[in-house]
Amino acid sequence: MSYNGLLHKYGNLLQLPAHTRPITLLEGDTPLISAPNLARALGGGFELFIKYEGLNPTGSFKDRGMTAAISEAAGREVKTVICASTGNTAASAAAYAARAGMKAIVLIPQGKVAAGKLAGAVAYGGQVVQIDGSFDDALGMVVQISEKHPISLVNSINPFRIEGQKTSAFEICDTLGSAPDWLCLPVGNAGNITAYWAGFQQYNNLRWTGLPRILGVQAAGSAPLVLGHPVEKPETVATAIRIGKPARGEQALQAAEESDGRIIAATDEEILHMQNQLAMLEGIWVEPASAAGLAGLAKEIAAGQFAAQGKRIVAVCTGHGMKDPDIITQGMGKPKIVPPRLDALEEVIL
Ligand code: F0G
Repeated sequence: MSYNGLLHKYGNLLQLPAHTRPITLLEGDTPLISAPNLARALGGGFELFIKYEGLNPTGSFKDRGMTAAISEAAGREVKTVICASTGNTAASAAAYAARAGMKAIVLIPQGKVAAGKLAGAVAYGGQVVQIDGSFDDALGMVVQISEKHPISLVNSINPFRIEGQKTSAFEICDTLGSAPDWLCLPVGNAGNITAYWAGFQQYNNLRWTGLPRILGVQAAGSAPLVLGHPVEKPETVATAIRIGKPARGEQALQAAEESDGRIIAATDEEILHMQNQLAMLEGIWVEPASAAGLAGLAKEIAAGQFAAQGKRIVAVCTGHGMKDPDIITQGMGKPKIVPPRLDALEEVIL
């Protein structure tokens, strides 16, 4: 059977208005890749799977929510959409808006957006505005603008974004036959953790798939949900989750509590180390923020605070490594240059 996108496959399980007009790039249906080498490196004795959301059309999980939000807006003949973004939402909004014939305006925090994301937003024709402030400042501005003007907000405050993002939980249950024991994922503005928990609960009510415990992971320099208060000047190398006042923070805490899970913080060093391990041991390159869930898992296991034995664990890797090439190329030496002679090559590689 051909794949026609998320709304076609799971639309009957999503609360979308009747006027919704599907705009799709055939997002979703991402692979759940087993990661035995990494599991072994973390101590072994459990099953580990990567839900590789970097393989969505614009390179991140945002496309799941965006197909829903833009489709709903398209059904209302919306002409312009707007979002604040650390980069991935911007690229996704611009792509889906392009396909729907809409204008997309994206506000990004100045100088803190990875190259692959900014390039995407521009390539898809989005109007990019840099704010001399944080993501949180930008989000406050787009909320006000969308109340004042006929411009639709497509951040995850938009309920249709959450509806679309629930589908990843459905896919995981469909692939495994049940929910995993644990789900680990990065937490920024907290839309995704909210969506996963809603999705798993809905599927469990319908199909008795069970519920996972949720391990949400923030970057230590941007960890308002761990600290219990907003962070005025969030900082982290994982720029996607450089957020100090998560819009759905309460729901994230609720998801962690109801699932008998928790939200913890991982340092930049731990995040980058995990990004490296995942790429080197499994051939899966994700952007730094996307390694946060796994970094948190590794940290918990190492601290003896996580009974992993015999468990089935899914880590959500939210965005592709190519989104943020600089983080790799900045730290590397220049590849060696050799003259075009076999003996010179042999000298270097043997
Ligand atoms: N991982 C990546 C790669 C992201 O881009 C984001 C959020 C998250 C995780 C966290 O998801 O916000 O639902 O908790 N990026 C947003 C953006 C903020 O603008 O692209 P969340």
